[in-house]
Parts: sequence; C-alpha cells; structure tokens
Amino acid sequence: MAKPVSIEVWNPNGKYRVVSTKPMPGTRWINLLIQQDCRLEICTEKKTILSVEDIIALIGDKCDGVIGQLTEDWGEELFSALRRAGGTAFSNMAVGYNNVDVNAANKHGIAVGNTPGVLTETTAELAASLSLAAARRIVEADEFMRAGLYDGWLPHLFVGNLLKGQTVGVIGAGRIGSAYARMMVEGFKMNLIYYDLYQATRLEKFVTAYAEFLKANGETPVTWKRASSMDEVLQEADIISLHPILDKTTYHLVNKERLAKMKKEAILINCSRGPVIDEAALVDHLRQNPLFRVGLDVFEDEPNMKPGLAELKNAIVVPHIASASKWTREGMATLAALNVLGKIKGYPVWFDANRVEPFLNENAQPPAASPSIVNAKALSLPVSKL
Ligand code: DGY
Repeated sequence: MAKPVSIEVWNPNGKYRVVSTKPMPGTRWINLLIQQDCRLEICTEKKTILSVEDIIALIGDKCDGVIGQLTEDWGEELFSALRRAGGTAFSNMAVGYNNVDVNAANKHGIAVGNTPGVLTETTAELAASLSLAAARRIVEADEFMRAGLYDGWLPHLFVGNLLKGQTVGVIGAGRIGSAYARMMVEGFKMNLIYYDLYQATRLEKFVTAYAEFLKANGETPVTWKRASSMDEVLQEADIISLHPILDKTTYHLVNKERLAKMKKEAILINCSRGPVIDEAALVDHLRQNPLFRVGLDVFEDEPNMKPGLAELKNAIVVPHIASASKWTREGMATLAALNVLGKIKGYPVWFDANRVEPFLNENAQPPAASPSIVNAKALSLPVSKL
C-alpha cells in the first residue's frame, strides 16, 4: 500500500476531479478549474520529486485529469493508473516532454498537454544571461568581490571576451533558439551561424534586415549562415547555445570529440536538456581548457552534477531556471490547467500551439479549447477553427 500524500483541496464538491502534483505559481489556473466545476487537489508533499507510487496514490480511484511536472516519470504505470481511475487528460507544466512516454499515453487514450509559446523569450533571456555572464566572468568576479579580495583596479583583472563582431552559433533554431539568436545578434551585433534540419526563414530575414539597418547607419553589417552540419557551427562559433529537443538522436550530441572541435576560448550554453551534453567529457574539457567557458541550466543526472563540475571556475551553473519568470511560470500553469480542462470538457484542441496568447489574457475568458495537446493527431482529437 502506497503511503498517503498530503494535499490541499479546492472546490470539494466539484464534478470533475483534477490533481496537480505540485503547487504552481499564480491563482488564475486554480480559478479557471474551479469555475468549470472541477474539484482540485494540489499535492503539498514536501519532497521535491514525487515517485511513481506517490503519484499513483494521488490519482486514487477516480481522477479525470492530472497536471504533472517534468521531474516525474510519466510512463505505462502512471497512464494505466490514470485510465483505471477514469482519467483522459494529463499535462506537463513544461514545453519539453521527454519525461512522458507518449506511446503509453496513446495506448490508454490519454491526451498529453505541454506549454509552448509562453516560455520562449524567458528561456532565451536566460541563455543570453548565461552567455554574458560567461563572456564577462560575472560569477567569478562576484565571488572575488564578496571574498574581500579586491584591492584595486588592475589591467588583467577578470579580462573576458567582447561579443561584438564575434559569431554566435545556435544548434536548433526553433522558437527558443531563434529568439536567443535575435537577442545576441541585435543586442551585441554578433554574426550568426545556425544548424537546424529546417530552414529558419524568419530568423534569416530578421538578420538580413538588421544588417541593412546597420549598413545604412554606417556600421559594419552582421552576417548569417545556415551551416550544413553541426560540426561547422562548433568549429566557427565563439558562443554556442544548444536548443534541440532531447531524444535518441540528440543524447550526448556534444561529446568529447565534438568539444575538441570547438575553439579553445569558446563558450557553450545549455538551457535545453542535460543529456544533450556528455557532462563527464565536459568536465574533462573544462579542466584541460581553462579559457573555455560554459553556462549550464540543465544537467545530465539532474538534480546532480557530474563530479568536479561544481569546483570549476570556468563553469556557471544554475538550477534549471530558464523559464522562471513570474509571467511565464503563471502562464505555464494556466496552459497546463487548460489542457486538462479542455479534454475533460470535450473541447477541441487549439489550432496553433504557437499562438496561445488568447489563453494568457487575464482580462478575458480563455477560448474553449485545449491550448496544446502533443498527441492530438494520434488520438484523432478535433481541432478548433479560428
Ligand atoms: C520546459 O518547459 O521544458 C523547461 O525545461 C522548464 O520550463
């Protein structure tokens, strides 16, 4: 028998039982669920990562839908438990869903939601922050200052890299990768090289237009190039930011051999998923190349870091906070709740998961749709029209 888990209950007499495995930011998501006749149970258990057994206990005998987190293992066991409890909907409060076995959800007829469109800029801003912090050695300099070691200006003190005129490399130029590229190109006048299976036409147009603007103002225009291989980006760029999804093809995408191809003074940023980098190989590379720097938001064995990483001055590490702005996290909670609610109520799936603004407008009722269901096609769910 699994141990009972502590919960907070909203609208106890609601018709539909919805469980959230964590308290989430904001209150709009709670209000939207209770206005639509849901009894909401929020897990208040103190431990950070819930086990499969904990979640099975939360699901219980009757549960219409669950809002879960990327730290949870949503596979056969959980989807069959949810199905047995009469559930038809699950949403990750995340855009990434590598913790979800979508085939298992399909097998049990459970819709799987995610939260795109609301964290693009926030995540790109964190990648840009790590890029700047690494280039200008902000964390090392802060530690030095707090340690009382500063005893006067020196020509060599914390000399870093100038970004202007250097090349930013983006691996995976989807929504977040493109937003990051625009920030670095426009903000710091960097040239762009990117690698993606698909052509990032809007990004290319943006850089071209910006180059024309700079030229018209007598400044050196920026350039862009779509690389024919990932290695080309690694060899040419001064800062490289990784934005692929995590799957079999991107596991250890950056390994020992690829690290060796990068410039000795390059900066590597990862705000995607930890296993995209072979972290043990990265620790060795950082040790051997003190001028190579890295900014990491995600780790291979999260929440742990590979031995040695925490001691390295040329690594900046933050705890998976790329989407952690108030607006974004509240928006993610809203989208996740509406994904679940939409399925329970039999609403269609929103026609474009990249255009979720109508769901985020606090001054209006959200559309009667689920904002983003990743297995909508597999489950033949109806799609809303504009
Ligand atoms: C996501 O949404 O996938 C991020 O990793 C967390 O916000």
